[in-house]
Amino acid sequence: MRKLLKFIAVPVTLAFVVLFSAALPMVQSASAEPPRSAQEQVKAGEQIYRNGILPSGQPMQAFVKGDVPVSGTAFSCASCHLRSGIGSVEGGVVTPPTNGELLFKPVQVYYKGTEQKFFPFPPRRAAYDEKSLAEAIRDGKNPDGVVLNDVMPRYQLGNEDMNILVSYLKTLSSQLPPGVTDSSIQFATVIAEDVPVDVRDAMLEPLQRYVDNKNSQAEFYKSPRGNRSRLMVEKMFTSKELSTRKLGLSQWVLKGSPETWRSQLEEYYRKEPVFALLGGVVNSEWQIIHRFSEENKIPCLMPQTDLPVISDTDWYTLYSSKGYYQEGEAAARYLNSRQDISPARPIVQIVRESREGKELSAGFTDTWRDLERREIVTVNLKGNETITNSFIERLLAEKKPAAVILWDGPDIKGALTFIAADKQKPELVFVSSRYLGKQILAVPEQARDITYVTYPYSFAQKVINSAMGKIAVEDESKFIINAKDFSVRDRVQNARLNSNSISQLVTMALMEMRGNYFRDYFLDVIGMAPDQTSPLFGRLSFGPGQRYASKGCYIVQITKGAEPEIVRKSPWVIN
Ligand code: HEC
Repeated sequence: MRKLLKFIAVPVTLAFVVLFSAALPMVQSASAEPPRSAQEQVKAGEQIYRNGILPSGQPMQAFVKGDVPVSGTAFSCASCHLRSGIGSVEGGVVTPPTNGELLFKPVQVYYKGTEQKFFPFPPRRAAYDEKSLAEAIRDGKNPDGVVLNDVMPRYQLGNEDMNILVSYLKTLSSQLPPGVTDSSIQFATVIAEDVPVDVRDAMLEPLQRYVDNKNSQAEFYKSPRGNRSRLMVEKMFTSKELSTRKLGLSQWVLKGSPETWRSQLEEYYRKEPVFALLGGVVNSEWQIIHRFSEENKIPCLMPQTDLPVISDTDWYTLYSSKGYYQEGEAAARYLNSRQDISPARPIVQIVRESREGKELSAGFTDTWRDLERREIVTVNLKGNETITNSFIERLLAEKKPAAVILWDGPDIKGALTFIAADKQKPELVFVSSRYLGKQILAVPEQARDITYVTYPYSFAQKVINSAMGKIAVEDESKFIINAKDFSVRDRVQNARLNSNSISQLVTMALMEMRGNYFRDYFLDVIGMAPDQTSPLFGRLSFGPGQRYASKGCYIVQITKGAEPEIVRKSPWVIN
């Protein structure tokens, strides 16, 4: 029946459709276009709002500064009002909120999504309704007839597309998410049961300490004794309601094999909704938890992993770095920058069949391809296969490579010795310091002048006194350090440093959010955060939608002799 109606509805006149559908109200929307479900409608609105793409697949059209035509893909609503719709203040331009909760109310003056009642102005505008909202978007007029600043483009939207966008705005950041109540924000951290206790504790302790401190402060502010301090703090910070709010941190312990983790996560979440996940540590890839976060739209801040998911489009998990993948990228960039390396000879990549080897090689291969360089010859090593002299001899004689990239673990001494001794030795060899673990001096003396090591951490540190106590910062002036001081950091130390950075980031984000505890806004705010020093990576830098906070990696070499030194061969970010 429905199929038939659709079939005849295409060629008939409008009058006929109206008549026909009036007689059969059940199938009112039968037309050339199948009716959208409520969910599809929201998806279509999201696509307009975030990417400037209309349901027809065409870019939305707009005018800026009066009459300059622009494409909505470059001027998507989200690019100014943010993904959450809470808006921002940048360079003196206030981009007001356009989220469901606030549009349909009269407002005073907003600053980053918070109503500023103390401003001595009359209300900024009356409440929007669907009609006036369409007028604002098309013609740049607010409900009081005031013309909006021409930074806000004027969009040419048909009625149907406008309806879709307006219904999306109604749902956008309209309700606080699970895990947030009037008095608390709940977080969780995910830990696999088989993670060594010292690593787990090092990851947990800074997060727990942060939550405990915040909560005892909130207790104090609520007490009669703390009342005056509370008033003072509330005057100083615009994030008033945060002072007495409690935070919770649960541990979601994953047991058994990774195939069962997803259902365990869903079960934890069903029993106890959380606003976001903080840190977390497992022994394998982060993939399963990444998918869980993405599909449930739960932010996850800097899990302790060197095996993150590499994606340009996923939104919810923010990693401290791309891990092994990033070292592979850095090696490719550095090699590309070396004009002196013969471009005619091939690059040979020897890759151990392991998670680490796979990621290093993917980072190298993807980047090399993006740089439009020649094909790479890749040779895979089985899990326990040893590299023999004849293997190296044959490979070098056959391929005559300009460079050998050796993505293998701590046991590389033999391979490097064979390569260095070969008549056909390459101009350079790459190894990964993360994969070598603590064995950086395992690079044998005779191979040191051709061996380059990717090193993703802060190179050298000095300790300074700051308002927050002693902190370690990168000492940019150091290019050479004694190899004995040069330890590739271990998992315990990394976990602690990483969790310290998370606490700083959460403190900043919650204050910036000023009561708008929406998950997308949490990530929007972090996307606008200034760079932070990190004792682990030197620097963490953020940007809208960027999901890997440490952008760099050094390339180093080790000198020969009784007092070997590590020499920096590249800047932190290699382009
Ligand atoms: C280039 C940045 C930019 C883009 C893109 C943009 N806006 Fe705006 N928008 C602004 C600014 C700035 C204002 C405030 C203008 C003023 O105060 O006069 C504003 C105001 C508004 C208002 C009025 C809010 C109020 O409280 O009166 C609405 C509604 C709005 N925008 C919706 C949208 C929608 C929907 C889109 C996408 C279709 C969009 N904006 C795209 C910058 C932008």
